[in-house]
Amino acid sequence: MTPEGSLLAAEGLCKAYGPTPALDGADFSIHPGEVVAVMGPSGSGKSTLLHCLAGIVRPDSGTVRYGPHTLTDLGDAQRSALRRTDFGFVFQFGQLVPELTCLENVALPLRLNGTKRKEAERQAREWLARLEVDGVGAQRPGEISGGQGQRVAVARALATTPRVVFADEPTGALDSLNGERVLTLLTDAARDTNAAVVLVTHEARVAAYSDREIVVRDGRVKDMAGRI
Ligand SMILES: Nc1ncnc2c1ncn2[C@@H]1O[C@H](COP(=O)(O)OP(=O)(O)O)[C@@H](O)[C@H]1O
Ligand SMILES: [Mg+2]
Repeated sequence: MTPEGSLLAAEGLCKAYGPTPALDGADFSIHPGEVVAVMGPSGSGKSTLLHCLAGIVRPDSGTVRYGPHTLTDLGDAQRSALRRTDFGFVFQFGQLVPELTCLENVALPLRLNGTKRKEAERQAREWLARLEVDGVGAQRPGEISGGQGQRVAVARALATTPRVVFADEPTGALDSLNGERVLTLLTDAARDTNAAVVLVTHEARVAAYSDREIVVRDGRVKDMAGRI
């Protein structure tokens, strides 16, 4: 059974690397446009949960449903096609393509989805402005600060107007002022485009940005009151 009206829902996810389980019966669901903060100690399974939800890692057992699709039944090609059109990703260290300018980095996912270069760059410029980094378009990732890089990474994740944004400790390498600003920009932009956000974070004030908080502990998901 998947929770009524959810966009993305996982049930009973198990995934082991060697003898210890990374996920041990994890359940999760998120509604369209909802921002869910995922907390939990290091090694508890947060990244593995995100990777299973996004169809990057196939769980040993359990199911992931996304809209009408059962992600866990799809082949690699179908899952990567879905990821390109429907999902956006932000990681702890931007993972921008170092050889491309920041503008080209943001335009890249649009190009991959078939948008023509001029139009992709026009949209990319708008996203950079929205993330308050319109000045860095011509620079390469190695020439800008960590905070600017994460803003570019958020612009890239949102440029294709994904239905779900997966953000894995996107502010983990930033000072708290930059971190809070990036989270504000990310969640505001996601709300404006009705994208759901699965946000792994250790930010203390995360409740200000999220609709709901969950905790991953020993490969299982609990709500903030400690219930399953
Ligand atoms: N690719 C992998 N190979 C081996 N072990 C892994 C791999 N990914 C995660 N693990 C292990 O699974 C557990 C959960 O990891 P992870 O999901 O990265 O936790 P978190 O993101 O909460 O820190 C840890 O014990 C980690 O060492
Ligand atoms: Mg992690």
